[in-house]
Amino acid sequence: MPVLFAFLHHLTFITMIVVLTMQLVLLGQPLSLQSARKLQIVDRILGLSAVALLVIGFLRVFLFEKGPGYYFHNGIFHAKLTLFLIAAVLSIVC
Ligand code: HEM
Repeated sequence: MPVLFAFLHHLTFITMIVVLTMQLVLLGQPLSLQSARKLQIVDRILGLSAVALLVIGFLRVFLFEKGPGYYFHNGIFHAKLTLFLIAAVLSIVC
């Protein structure tokens, strides 16, 4: 199970990187009805993969890795979670 969830963790953040790249390419082109529809789909996939990454991350914290006691006393983990949440809020608001 830990390996499966580590794989899913990688899969979700790689999906996010691919989808963000697609957004950059689409936004670099003149906006048309077709590209606006594509942007809508790509944005939905980005949202879903971000939620999946967060859920899978917390499952790893609580069930499949070193446990919450370890991670919630780890500054690097706090920094990572804070940056992730700031990016999530900015992408919802902007
Ligand atoms: C874009 C956001 C993120 C990226 C790029 C990312 C990337 C990574 C990478 C490269 C690893 C090391 C390889 C591995 O063990 O799988 C890792 C480990 C881990 N991540 Fe993330 N992660 C992100 C978000 C999160 C979030 C939001 C959480 C928790 C809610 C989380 C929880 C964990 C845990 C528990 C580990 C295992 C650490 C250990 O080995 O003790 N990650 N992450």
